[in-house]
Amino acid sequence: MTQNKELTIGLFGFGVVGEGIYKVLQQTPTLKAKIKKICIKHPEKLRDAPAELFTTNRNDILFDSTINVIVELIDDADAAFEIVSSALKQKIAVVSANKKMIAKHLAELLTLQQENNVSFLYEAAVGGSIPIIRNLEEYYDNDLLNSFSGIVNGSTNYILTKINEEGLDYNKALLQAQELGFAESNPALDVEGIDAVNKLTIVLKHAYGVTVNAETITHKGITFLHSDDAKYAAEKGYNIKLVANAKRISDDKIVAFVLPSFVDSTSQLFNIRNEYNGVLIGSKLADEQFLYGKGAGRYPTSSAVLSDIAALRYDYRYEYKKTFTGLTYNLTKDYLIRVFVSFNQKDNIDTSSFVEIEETYKSSKRNYIVGIIKISDLENANWFNNKDVSTIAFSTEVENQLKIKKLEHELVEE
Ligand code: HSE
Repeated sequence: MTQNKELTIGLFGFGVVGEGIYKVLQQTPTLKAKIKKICIKHPEKLRDAPAELFTTNRNDILFDSTINVIVELIDDADAAFEIVSSALKQKIAVVSANKKMIAKHLAELLTLQQENNVSFLYEAAVGGSIPIIRNLEEYYDNDLLNSFSGIVNGSTNYILTKINEEGLDYNKALLQAQELGFAESNPALDVEGIDAVNKLTIVLKHAYGVTVNAETITHKGITFLHSDDAKYAAEKGYNIKLVANAKRISDDKIVAFVLPSFVDSTSQLFNIRNEYNGVLIGSKLADEQFLYGKGAGRYPTSSAVLSDIAALRYDYRYEYKKTFTGLTYNLTKDYLIRVFVSFNQKDNIDTSSFVEIEETYKSSKRNYIVGIIKISDLENANWFNNKDVSTIAFSTEVENQLKIKKLEHELVEE
């Protein structure tokens, strides 16, 4: 029989999601979970909750023996790690949505959970309301995962949708994403692809059991995109999406990268609009599956936090099963991908590291090439981080993969 404990919550943060959880819990009495204290940084702000709930002293929560759950929803990743580790050391269960903090401290957080035999849940950290982590943990426990690819950042998808469908200017679209509560308080994390990288790092742990330093994942956000790229996409019938990819390429190797990508209309990712997220999971037995839902915003994120809180009533814990299977994967960048690279006439780029160039276009203003390149060579190319050069990957078209396989084969033979 599962337990149905009463939960007394100490909440850290009363921002978009913190306030959402407060409101949702008030409307969900069946959950038997109540917030006892809320720790905030700026007491001067007007808040829509009784003043006696608030404190600025974290110890009012961390050392209150009646509090048996801590919900951490603050912005500062370092302060969040201090709070979470202090709670776990005291064997208090924690729910968090802090992707940056979790991605950075995955190994230590796992040790803390094991040493203290305590739950640490963070479904809201990846894909907002979509249950990705619990699916990877439970449903895909025994099935061999071949790939994970998807849209895991709501803000960038919102911006790309608004630019594409309404011709909105980038800055206006970003402002809207901020006003709607989708963006990080430092939106550079969204638009530069770092938030997606952090989420992919967490996925890699639950899908493959690997602990990766997020900073080493090849990535590019949407800030480099040029208006002519959208024209190319429209002509070819593609949508541009920021796609996070993880792929198992052999018994011990994984590739992972986040790049703006051309998605064709045969892909489920093609029609994902606004702040929605969607991920495709490729596995040996189930083949391809698609998970879809709102990836950002107050209530979708609160939904995932609430689900974690509810799971604590029966002491649910992630078991990190893939970490303990005995299979060990390493991240490799020795993998070919097909990319479109566009640049201004004057910035003519060095193409020597391409394995093959399929298409070249020159005009008085903007040039582009389409070609096949190794991820490591792409990342090391001196133009990869030039702000006037955009790099867009082609997502998984069948011909692409066949062609790349053929080239890989030829390279091995040489
Ligand atoms: N800034 C994030 C996003 C919030 O836009 O997806 C949800 O993780």
